[in-house]
Amino acid sequence: MTLRRGLRAVALAGLVGVGACGSSSESITPTSPTQPSQSTSDTTPLRAYAARRNVFVGSAIDRGFRYPGSDGVTFRSTMARQFNMLTAENDMKHDRIHPARDTYRFDPADSLVAFAESNGMRVRGHTLLFHNQLASWLTSGTWTKDEAKALLVDHVTKVVAHYRGRVAEWDVVNEVLGDNGALRSGFWLDRIGPEYVELAFRTARAADPTAGLYYNDYNIEGINAKSDSAYAFVRDLMARGVPITGVGFESHFQVGGVPSSLSANITRFAALGLKVHITELDIRLQLPSTAAQLQTQAQNYRDVVSACVSSPACDTVVFWGFTDRESWIPSTFAGWGDALLFDSIYQPKPAFASVQISLK
Ligand code: XIL
Repeated sequence: MTLRRGLRAVALAGLVGVGACGSSSESITPTSPTQPSQSTSDTTPLRAYAARRNVFVGSAIDRGFRYPGSDGVTFRSTMARQFNMLTAENDMKHDRIHPARDTYRFDPADSLVAFAESNGMRVRGHTLLFHNQLASWLTSGTWTKDEAKALLVDHVTKVVAHYRGRVAEWDVVNEVLGDNGALRSGFWLDRIGPEYVELAFRTARAADPTAGLYYNDYNIEGINAKSDSAYAFVRDLMARGVPITGVGFESHFQVGGVPSSLSANITRFAALGLKVHITELDIRLQLPSTAAQLQTQAQNYRDVVSACVSSPACDTVVFWGFTDRESWIPSTFAGWGDALLFDSIYQPKPAFASVQISLK
């Protein structure tokens, strides 16, 4: 454990004692992994357990943060009580933060960062370069390769510098590999070529010398053809001295679909000297959900969180939302939902207790 990580954990544990989380007086007894995954009595926040292990447990947030009235109060207080990390689900993406060539709009993301700071939460920056959610001024423009490189450098520099010292780590490049394992076609690859990846990491490092810099992707959580490509991709970046800190496993799973090779895959990336973060965890099921499905989901959550925290290289699990009231799943995967730890009225589901147990 680094000194910094240790001090941060102590600070967070202290905050949990005096702040909204109010749980440090509850005694926490380590449990064996064979205990049942459900406990209705333990109200200890996830972040209290996480802080004791020097790990970070977070959620992405977007619209719910701005719900009006008591709904918003419940959303924000649940977020602050449970988590010691926050990701902007959309507010730091290109189209939101850079809506015109000479206009950066930081206010929405600034309010998330301020909320995180006032609640003792670490922030993951998501994301600098992505093939989706690019502002139309960029994608509809006609640019030479040199102009596109200058636009990349301007964007990465301005955003990273704005949050220097406040965003702990960045998803520098997001979903840059296609399902075939080759670099994915998109604005940056098509205009600049493969060198854009290295340019992005080096530019981010110049703008913030200490932030963690990540490659984040999906379908690389288990050992498979795409994660083999991801492994070769990051090993090549490292061989060329590109400043990469780690790999983000998005982890958008279907119930029953957690890869059995998750732990082994974390281990092989860690053996390269990289960190591994679980960055967008949700486990969707087909609606209407049944009690049996919710139990399987709980076990699946437990397996993922345990796989992370049992590796020294994995100190961060971020869920892609925390309440079924606010999740990208139903609008993206028709017929699927109920993917998160709390139901739509903020009541903990069986998965909540199993994540508590995994973090103990
Ligand atoms: C999703 C958001 O959750 C949605 O609100 C938005 O409409 C589209 O993007 N992988 C990623 C995330 O890296 O940025 C995506 O977030 C989900 C998949």
